[in-house]
Amino acid sequence: MADAASILHVSPVIPVVTIDDPRHAVPIARALADGGVRIIELTLRTESALTSLKRIADEVPDILVGAGTVLTPAQADAAIDAGAQFLVSPGITKTLLDHLLTTGVPFLPGVATIGEVMGVLERGLTAMKFFPAGPAGGPGYLAAVGAPIPQVQFCPTGGISLDSAPGYLALPNVSCVGGSWLTPKTAVEHNDWEQITKLAREASGLSLD
Ligand code: 3PG
Repeated sequence: MADAASILHVSPVIPVVTIDDPRHAVPIARALADGGVRIIELTLRTESALTSLKRIADEVPDILVGAGTVLTPAQADAAIDAGAQFLVSPGITKTLLDHLLTTGVPFLPGVATIGEVMGVLERGLTAMKFFPAGPAGGPGYLAAVGAPIPQVQFCPTGGISLDSAPGYLALPNVSCVGGSWLTPKTAVEHNDWEQITKLAREASGLSLD
């Protein structure tokens, strides 16, 4: 059975990255790796996302590349074909979960309620994305979920920053957080890869207290 527990322990922050121009894919991935972040969740929100994903998978072997915003079984298959080493969905449906369990590729299903957590747990999975973390209740909500369901580890994502990350990372049921702040649009537009490396270095220095 697919188990994404190891994905949660690669870095304190999983950068959630949306790439418009595939020529930016490799420099972004290298900049993140140079800053010590060896994982990237590349969202399937642009037409060329799979091209970017393939380039990173082929050309930046020291970073683990996964596909985010996986909404359908077809997207999951296409991402795996392009080289995705893990998959992330913002929420979960029975159709998608049934399919993901057949792929053999680790994945983080998105959940936001106790019922959703229980539904995914029933299928034998204990690693999940908590999304959208900030609007859904933040660290206080996750701490409360951990009382009845301590066996689930979360990657909260959505509305998290370098400043708010420690509040999540301090929780026993959080192994990492996700966020898009490591790859600001302006830095990408200006080919400012050093800025991304600096943000990655700050993020990789966050500790799980
Ligand atoms: C995601 O898909 O996980 C979010 O878009 C990332 O959320 P953020 O932009 O608030 O970090």
